[in-house]
Amino acid sequence: MNDTLQLLLNRKSVRAYEDREISAETKDLLLQATLRAPTAGNMMLYSIIEVADQAAKDTLAQTCDNQPFIARAPLVLLFLADYQRWFDYFVHSDVAGLCERRGEEMRRPQEGDLFLACNDALIAAQTAVVAAESLGIGSCYIGDIMENYEAHRELFQLPRYVFPICLICFGYPARSQIGRAQPPRFDRKFIVFQDRYRRLDGAEFTEMYQDLQERFHKLPNAPEGVENVGQATYVRKFGADFSKEMTRSVQAILRNWESA
Ligand SMILES: Cc1cc2nc3c(=O)[nH]c(=O)nc-3n(C[C@H](O)[C@H](O)[C@H](O)COP(=O)(O)O)c2cc1C
Repeated sequence: MNDTLQLLLNRKSVRAYEDREISAETKDLLLQATLRAPTAGNMMLYSIIEVADQAAKDTLAQTCDNQPFIARAPLVLLFLADYQRWFDYFVHSDVAGLCERRGEEMRRPQEGDLFLACNDALIAAQTAVVAAESLGIGSCYIGDIMENYEAHRELFQLPRYVFPICLICFGYPARSQIGRAQPPRFDRKFIVFQDRYRRLDGAEFTEMYQDLQERFHKLPNAPEGVENVGQATYVRKFGADFSKEMTRSVQAILRNWESA
């Protein structure tokens, strides 16, 4: 076992932080490592906004599905899938003139470009998480940044070809976090396949969710009428209001992205 594997195996999301600043030097190391992340075509199809303004953090704590710990995080980084910078550079470079001479229509960023930029932004984000961990700094992703697009567009002045894909809170773990157990994962055989995709059947689901199901039965206050982990996850996650808002918000971003 080497130190890197140990670091990865021990990581867990941290949502409670010491009241301690992250120094400029440490932040610089974290960003240096982040910007070395692999990036499609070496184009760096992402941007990062450090949210330092406390009022903005307070807003995010509400707009990202009411998660107060966002406001208390010493470092908050917003990762943006960004095709705006390259598209602006294409315009600046008179790509339109080139296309005209070639008798072609100039492309605008489309769905494939967006997904590629999302890859770039997320790979940079996870690199930041690992770099932070190596510096003794805990982190937690906030997927809810994809909600409330209109508010976030205003707050961060996001242009059309910029998609807020994830927010990450960083901070030195509070004492309560140090010995806290990691959440379990599903058995590898349900997640990692050989050569082709394999759909799971009922017996495999029973085995896969057995531990969670046993814990579910011990819960003192399961929601009314909910009988198992599948139903509970549907109610709390997939079917919840925040998921519906995320879809509405992402559709608004896509409409904006795609409108010519
Ligand atoms: C895309 C993504 C979005 C997430 N969004 C949130 C979030 O909004 N709030 C939160 O507390 N944790 C969030 N998390 C953290 C997960 O809840 C956490 O990774 C998961 O429960 C597994 O725990 P672990 O990271 O400690 O292993 C998110 C993680 C990912 C990868």
